[in-house]
Amino acid sequence: MGKMISFVLNGNKMAVEVKDHWTLLYLLREELGLLGTKEGCGSGECGACTVIVDGMAVNSCLFPGLEIAGKDVVTIEGLTSPDGTLHPLQKSFVENGGIQCGYCTPGMIMSAKALLDESPNATEEEIKHALAGNICRCTGYAKIVDAVAHAGHPHEGCPDCGPSWRSESKGEE
Ligand code: FES
Ligand code: FES
Repeated sequence: MGKMISFVLNGNKMAVEVKDHWTLLYLLREELGLLGTKEGCGSGECGACTVIVDGMAVNSCLFPGLEIAGKDVVTIEGLTSPDGTLHPLQKSFVENGGIQCGYCTPGMIMSAKALLDESPNATEEEIKHALAGNICRCTGYAKIVDAVAHAGHPHEGCPDCGPSWRSESKGEE
């Protein structure tokens, strides 16, 4: 037996029937067909399923579906403009080599978005802290941190892009 709930998904008001045992991840992928949010561990360990609920990055595999009633949910699908223009974070991941197999990418980007919405000039340490719950098996993380740091302001002309930033980031590869 389900319960009708209303919430906002990627800027659109929705009313859906949600069963008690459904997670937000199940609702998004299996019921609403939003496959951008990935399932990795299914137990809160990998961050592949990260979405933003009321401004906070959450693991949707652990988030009870019924608890989104009245809340604002943003998934990776909500970042791209209707005309296909990528969000600055998405562009920066592409331009800075922050994507290899891509499985972790939606979760990484949603964790990064929650951080940058709160702290647009987040430091390298703050970026690493915000992404600490997101596992990537491919990139070695340095390019991902670079991509987040330079979202919306490319290396050229960026005041942070002195030798220390570049060598520190490169040193982790
Ligand atoms: Fe949710 Fe891994 S699938 S944290
Ligand atoms: Fe493959 Fe991160 S790009 S897991």
